[in-house]
Amino acid sequence: MNTPEALQSAALDEIELASGSPQLRELELKYLGKSGQIMLLMRELAHLPNEERPSFGQRVNQVRAAVQGRLDERAAELRVNEQAAQFTREQIDVTMPGRPMRVGYEHVLQQTINRIKDVFHSLGFLYLESPEVEHFRYNFDALNYPPDHPAMDDQDTFYIDDEWLLRTQSTAIQGRVFERMAPPLRVFTIGRTFRNEAVDRTHGHTFHQVDAFMIDEGIGMAELKGTLGLFARAMIGEDVTLRFRPDFFPFVEPGVDYAISSPKFAGGRWLELGGAGLIHPNILEHYEIDTQRFSGFAFGLGVERIPMLAYGIEDLRHFYENDLRFLEQFRNLATP
Ligand code: FA5
Repeated sequence: MNTPEALQSAALDEIELASGSPQLRELELKYLGKSGQIMLLMRELAHLPNEERPSFGQRVNQVRAAVQGRLDERAAELRVNEQAAQFTREQIDVTMPGRPMRVGYEHVLQQTINRIKDVFHSLGFLYLESPEVEHFRYNFDALNYPPDHPAMDDQDTFYIDDEWLLRTQSTAIQGRVFERMAPPLRVFTIGRTFRNEAVDRTHGHTFHQVDAFMIDEGIGMAELKGTLGLFARAMIGEDVTLRFRPDFFPFVEPGVDYAISSPKFAGGRWLELGGAGLIHPNILEHYEIDTQRFSGFAFGLGVERIPMLAYGIEDLRHFYENDLRFLEQFRNLATP
């Protein structure tokens, strides 16, 4: 059997040699734990003659105190060293140059939308938005589509259920505005629209539309053409000319589609932008707008069309593929 003193010197030697806190914790268990060696020594007490017990007990207690004391000191020393090492390891070099931040820029469609907003704001139009998931009523009925009218076939879309659908045209905002606001009105909106379409270079299932309308006294085709001309020239260029051709939309009477041309376009071609017309009296009457006094125009167009025309982008799908080789060509353009 070890004497208490032999055990003490073995323990202190080991403590001296311990190279880190984990080893120290192991030594603490080995010597001072519940079934550690000093405890085992304590149990020897029972086998000793009565007269030897007090002094042996005292020796073991001294050993325990000595070992515990040295362990604590050593733990403190090691902690200091280890912390110093950790600080060195984790040191931050505050003088090192930072990583340059990558600065983003707006998507070419967002840049176009911003410009459209600027132009309409300068014409005194109020910007409003309405839901992309729209009620059938606002997308069709409120726009004077008779039930089962074939015009709806041109705008097949994605139905949420029997009543709710993804809006096919931003014109759907009209009913929502007429329910809340009275003329005179000058309102425009820009937003995502959806159609169940065979996707090709000029047709997406998801695209963006602008819609604008104005209701006031004495509004006719001249005001429509004047406003559209201002808009087209501000967006595309001062040399743009505008052409109207008769077209049908249930919510306008008369209705037109309109195209623009510019010497910049190859061969002076006409390029179609959208549809327009005078707001159908059925709609005004339905919303109890006095048609003796007020009339209005409305027009709509595809947002993608504008940068496609301005930059000669031949495929609308480029806008949505997030290919930086495409997008980087349109870094913060001053003009379209
Ligand atoms: C309309 O959507 C009417 N709401 C426009 C309107 C508003 C007429 C107000 C009268 C008064 P249309 O279905 O032609 O009309 O679409 C208008 C424009 O949206 C098109 O000229 C085209 O630029 C764009 N567009 C239509 N379908 C798609 C598509 N699948 N992908 C991309 N652009 C589209």
